Amino acid sequence: MNKINFIYFIAAILVAATLFSSCGGKTLDPDPDPYDTEPATPVDKTPKSVYKYGLRELAQANGLLIGAEYTYSEYAQDDSLRVVLKRDFEAVTFGNEMKHDNIVAGDGALVFNRADQMAQWAKDCGLKLFGHTLGWHNQQQSDYLNALISGAKDADEAAALVRKAHKTWVEAMVKHFDVYGWDVVNEVFSDSGDWRSSANTSTKDYHQFLWGSYYSGGTKAFVDSAFRNAREALERNGKTADLYINDYSLEWLGGKLEAICNYAQNNPDVTGIGTQMHISADVPRDNIKTMLERMVKTGKKVRISELDVTLGTADQAETIVYIFDQYLKIVPEAQRGGISFWGVSDKNSWLGYSKEPLLYSYSYRRKDAYLKLHAYLLERSGLDKN
Ligand code: XIL
Repeated sequence: MNKINFIYFIAAILVAATLFSSCGGKTLDPDPDPYDTEPATPVDKTPKSVYKYGLRELAQANGLLIGAEYTYSEYAQDDSLRVVLKRDFEAVTFGNEMKHDNIVAGDGALVFNRADQMAQWAKDCGLKLFGHTLGWHNQQQSDYLNALISGAKDADEAAALVRKAHKTWVEAMVKHFDVYGWDVVNEVFSDSGDWRSSANTSTKDYHQFLWGSYYSGGTKAFVDSAFRNAREALERNGKTADLYINDYSLEWLGGKLEAICNYAQNNPDVTGIGTQMHISADVPRDNIKTMLERMVKTGKKVRISELDVTLGTADQAETIVYIFDQYLKIVPEAQRGGISFWGVSDKNSWLGYSKEPLLYSYSYRRKDAYLKLHAYLLERSGLDKN
């Protein structure tokens, strides 16, 4: 490397270090779009209050924790994302970076780099972190898990190894990360409310590894043990965090809603229930109300964990406002685990940008959904509008 290249190299390292080591600093706050600064002339009809308060502050004034999910690549690439996260959200969840296959390497080593960078930035920005997820059938490090099993002399030994691997993993995660809550298990029921047991005993599939197959007593025994492992790991490490059971399609009011509520109610290690709510704007309104009422009846915390609302015939913004309104009316403050969106900008939605399911447009403009939610929260907060 010649001298000039060497200087460029050092400069690049310094820029990268500034970017990832601290929350503040002008370089992190380029104005992402014209709607972010109050215009000199009133061409923009956006109410002044939109510039005055972020959603975070308005949610707080309503006794509500508002959160959003993002991934490492968005975090590293989108300046606008970081600006918006700080302004509008109080809590964050990482889309993939705390999942088993992102942390555990093929040889079983734990690789925390990316999650650590993201967690440090969130901490520096005063954002609370939610842990997703300690137990799932997808995104498992199956190279490692399969190698473990194939070394066992019989099924009993394989089962014992899998159970130990889960316990070790939970202990490591709980010890390593400071979070306000964990998804201890994710998607462990079928839609009809049976314990998940179908299709995915294929240990060859990278995305599928059913822990429950290795527990006598099946998925229920795995879930019991997952909550016990998490509870004990918290105690051993002198930490507290809410422990959630999380699932999708609960708004369809099928057997799954009943099953998850019954399970949560009967297991003292469970702090709360997460309802993902990957929904369409057309989801029947009453279903949302009935779902929340049923969840509240368990006495556990209720968290909307992965909200996104794809376009439909009904107005997307109104559906989102309806969800917030019902949540605030139905869930008593002590039982509120908060509402978290699965993404910030349509650009990065896991569903693809054309579904437009989030509060911000592809180019990080506040959408109608944002503006209506903002107006609703402001009205209800009693804060000064001018
Ligand atoms: C999704 C991520 O957003 C994607 O980036 C990844 O490719 C697949 O997983 N329910 C969950 C989340 O609990 O973990 C999923 O996240 C979305 C559905």
